[in-house]
Amino acid sequence: MTSCASDTQASPETSQIVPLSRKPASSEAFVSRPENTGKTACIRTFGCQMNVHDSDRMRRMILDAGYSEVQTYEEADLVILNTCYVRENAVNRIKGHLGELGRLKREGRVKKVALTGCIGASEESRELERQYAIDLVLGTHNTYELAEFVGLPTMQETHTPELPGTIGEHSAFVTIMTGCNYQCSYCVVPSVRGRMICRPLENIVEEIERLVEGGTSYITLLGQTVDAWREKGKRFCDLLERVSEVAPRVWFTTSHPSNMEDRTLRLIGERENIVKRLHLPVQSGSDRMLKIMHRGYKSDRYRRKVEVFRKEVPDGTLSTDIIVGHPQETEEDHRETLRLIEDCGFDSAYVFKFSPRRGTEAIKMEGAVPEDVVQKRFMEVLRSIERNAFERNQKKIGSEEEIYIRHPRNDEGVAIGETWSGHAVHVNTNASPGDYVRARIDSAGPHVLYARNSA
Ligand code: 5AD
Ligand code: SF4
Repeated sequence: MTSCASDTQASPETSQIVPLSRKPASSEAFVSRPENTGKTACIRTFGCQMNVHDSDRMRRMILDAGYSEVQTYEEADLVILNTCYVRENAVNRIKGHLGELGRLKREGRVKKVALTGCIGASEESRELERQYAIDLVLGTHNTYELAEFVGLPTMQETHTPELPGTIGEHSAFVTIMTGCNYQCSYCVVPSVRGRMICRPLENIVEEIERLVEGGTSYITLLGQTVDAWREKGKRFCDLLERVSEVAPRVWFTTSHPSNMEDRTLRLIGERENIVKRLHLPVQSGSDRMLKIMHRGYKSDRYRRKVEVFRKEVPDGTLSTDIIVGHPQETEEDHRETLRLIEDCGFDSAYVFKFSPRRGTEAIKMEGAVPEDVVQKRFMEVLRSIERNAFERNQKKIGSEEEIYIRHPRNDEGVAIGETWSGHAVHVNTNASPGDYVRARIDSAGPHVLYARNSA
């Protein structure tokens, strides 16, 4: 699954092939905008890159409908909360926002509230709809219904449901598959996003060609288990190879250890324009827990994949997701996770405390781990990850890197960029998003590298 805004950062197989997108009539359709109607909308996105991407599509719908986008609830006629359901605290956060929006509606400041995304697709959304003043609830498969809600006459008249991130922007997400065919014990994704559907290769490549023509230089291939993508005998590695022939810079997330092929790892090492960062969620280092979680692999298989990655992509970075405190996790299981962390030397990780989710197998499991034990294990995993990441980052000091600028400089003159190895870098530069600068790394923390612009 794509990784969500996490508890801490220091990020889903036989398939039905259906097109996820229809081609817009002409590239003109991307830029023409209707008259501004004076109406305003605010979109808030919670969770993973898939949600960021869905929000991009909804943004195009509201702009097509003549709304202008605003950043605060107080200024908005329509507020869209595009939500994440992966952990309980995500729902609690949304309830806070819905409470605040209810108040603004009563004061007449906000007129309509839409709840979209994974909470929208869940059973719980019906309760929220009753409890709060929500005007529209959409799941993840029917976001296109927003078009009608905002007054676009018919679906035929909007190209929106299939659209990628904004054309002309320096970077864009491209969904290559949706859903997930795994059934991990703890995970709501299969119930809210459905089974895996892979988008046809040609359709993906056409979209990327259009994006690149429109000025996009960085493509991120998205899916819950991107490496499970397949079509007519073609597998993810074939797709990645094709995409790397078209896009100037490519990354992909999220991968599943059971699907990750050695030849994909080799390709990452061979192709200069594939970002050398692999996000490969392991979840636990204990074979017993991996079985309880239905992950479909043992820890040694994971270790072997990492070995291949380190050999084929020596300058690459590796990140993972780890869940601590899943029901039935013993101290010995936890020790196995700590051992795996030491063996793999992750460059970063998203560490999550187990969160019981309605509709999942784990919610009914006996053997809940007490909160204080979860907290202690959480801190131990975090420290171990950070120690490893810090040591690895320190080794980058002194190296000269080509840095892709992702976010422009802030008030302190610091822009945020990314090296080809996938490290985040804070760099002093006036360069704009999408530009490359060369800089020497002069210090490093556990999460970021720091550089002075030497261009
Ligand atoms: N509790 C805790 N973490 C979870 N994740 C998914 N479901 C849960 C849950 N119920 C984590 C996994 C996944 C990441 C996106 O979120 O680690 O890889
Ligand atoms: Fe990832 Fe498992 Fe959830 Fe699928 S079911 S999205 S593989 S965690």
